[in-house]
Amino acid sequence: MIIAIDGPAGSGKSTIARRLAERLRLTYLDSGALYRALTYMCMRDGVDLGDVPAVVKFLEALDIDLQYAAGRQRVLANGRDITAEIRDPAVTRQVYYVAKEPAVRKEMVAHQRAFGKRGDLVAEGRDMGTVVFPNADFKFYLDAGADVRAQRRHRELREKGMEVPLEQLRKEIEQRDRTDMERKVAPLKRAEDATVVDTSDMTIDEVVEHVMERIEKGRK
Ligand code: DC
Repeated sequence: MIIAIDGPAGSGKSTIARRLAERLRLTYLDSGALYRALTYMCMRDGVDLGDVPAVVKFLEALDIDLQYAAGRQRVLANGRDITAEIRDPAVTRQVYYVAKEPAVRKEMVAHQRAFGKRGDLVAEGRDMGTVVFPNADFKFYLDAGADVRAQRRHRELREKGMEVPLEQLRKEIEQRDRTDMERKVAPLKRAEDATVVDTSDMTIDEVVEHVMERIEKGRK
């Protein structure tokens, strides 16, 4: 079984996908973590993010692994734990360089499908239902207003000890929406057969219940 969850930054995708994976005992695939890992490793090793052939070559030699233990995700690149580093706002701002490149996405899609071959999956990202797993058993598109999403990010960062002004976060979210939705290859959009869930006024538990109900109904 494959459950595809797409949506913009801060729509609650990651939390919901993780909870679903736990409930249904499926593997959780955080596709954004793959794009982040590539971006971070390029930055760290001095690979010019604008030099596409160099980035692709670097990616081909890069072993990115996502591991889960005790409800926590670890991201490893060539065996090195980069779980915290990939969430740095500096990385977040630069991911679009690699995410907009067809040659990079081609490699990433192959990597993501390989996860799908290993077993059942909750796959989360921007193009899970449209490009990577068009035949997914269930597709959801989570959405929420930009203000709500900025507030969620603000809270998340604060919990990690980072204080970023709310207004700046809202601007960054809107900018990221634009780059994700307007890029030529695999833009963020709802798959025609995806169920839209507006999470603006919902708690995490409510979203999980809503999505679970859909899945249970669909499985009967
Ligand atoms: O979900 P996230 O914030 O961790 O994603 C980080 C970036 O990666 C986001 O700006 C868009 C990109 N991304 C993508 O292009 N395709 C995906 N399937 C997942 C993420």
